[in-house]
Amino acid sequence: MSLSSIINNIPKAELHLHIEGSLTPELMWRLAEKHSVSLPYASVEEIEAAYNFEDLQSFLDIYYAGAGVLKDEDDFFALMWEYLTRCHQENIVHTEIMFDPQTHTERGIGFDVFMPGFLKAMKKAEGEYGISSFLIMSFLRHLPESSAFETLALAEPYYGDIKAVGLDSSELGHPPSKFERVFKKAKALGFKIVAHAGEEGPASYIWEAIELLDVDRIDHGVRCQEDERLMDYLQEKQIPLTVCPLSNLKLCVIDDMKQHNIITLLERGLLVTVNSDDPTYFGGFLNENFEALANALDINEGVIKALAINSFKASFLSEERKSLFVDKIAQM
Ligand code: ADE
Ligand code: ZN
Repeated sequence: MSLSSIINNIPKAELHLHIEGSLTPELMWRLAEKHSVSLPYASVEEIEAAYNFEDLQSFLDIYYAGAGVLKDEDDFFALMWEYLTRCHQENIVHTEIMFDPQTHTERGIGFDVFMPGFLKAMKKAEGEYGISSFLIMSFLRHLPESSAFETLALAEPYYGDIKAVGLDSSELGHPPSKFERVFKKAKALGFKIVAHAGEEGPASYIWEAIELLDVDRIDHGVRCQEDERLMDYLQEKQIPLTVCPLSNLKLCVIDDMKQHNIITLLERGLLVTVNSDDPTYFGGFLNENFEALANALDINEGVIKALAINSFKASFLSEERKSLFVDKIAQM
């Protein structure tokens, strides 16, 4: 079997996906027309052509503006349903999906609008595709701690529908320490904890996420390579890194996919996984991220299997469900 067929056919979990970053230019265009929102683009092609970024912030500016077309429950349903349909096509059997409540609450759109839309699509995907999914509520780190506390309070009616709490947006200048208290509260409420760290920010932000936020996983984390002791720690404790290759390329964290360190980290025994982050902005969903790695790096079937197994090991599924998928892949 070719490597592409293996990538397509192997069961996978995706653990680092921002639902707002899966908005296709076509859906953005359709919703802008529906709500008479004016976009700074003359066509769908122009939207696609605008997706050239020089760093994280230049992407975030366009990404937050794009989310402005999402207004009612049906829009959030359509967004989630399109992503989960894509998961079905790519053999993603489990996904843990981040959403940014503050991007919507700051525009006057509440949890009572986006949560029912998301949950309806997730339930439908479970029934029609057999895909399981969890939600990760992410705080925007460029906003103050007080806004994260308010968001945690607003989410209360939906605590049962949210698996984990995360931290995203502009990393530099907004270290994990800024959110130590709100994550302590989230942990006490029983949420799993994840945080973006070591994407653009230094390795010290990864230490902070571990020591101050008590994270269960690190999102990105590729800059751990600058600290030998940190790499040893991540390996020893098997703290997962949800790595996003096309994102790193598009946001200029690396200049060329050949420079990507994911295989070096895998070979060193770190629990790394492949993810798409914001697929419609970065030029590829999950399988295209695997393909990009396979085209640039020395990868064989065993590496694809190891990465797919890691995606389940690093998930928040029950130990029983993890074993089911890990055993299935091992027997392939
Ligand atoms: N929000 C959406 N994508 C992100 C990324 N790659 N880093 C930080 N925040 C994000
Ligand atoms: Zn991300």
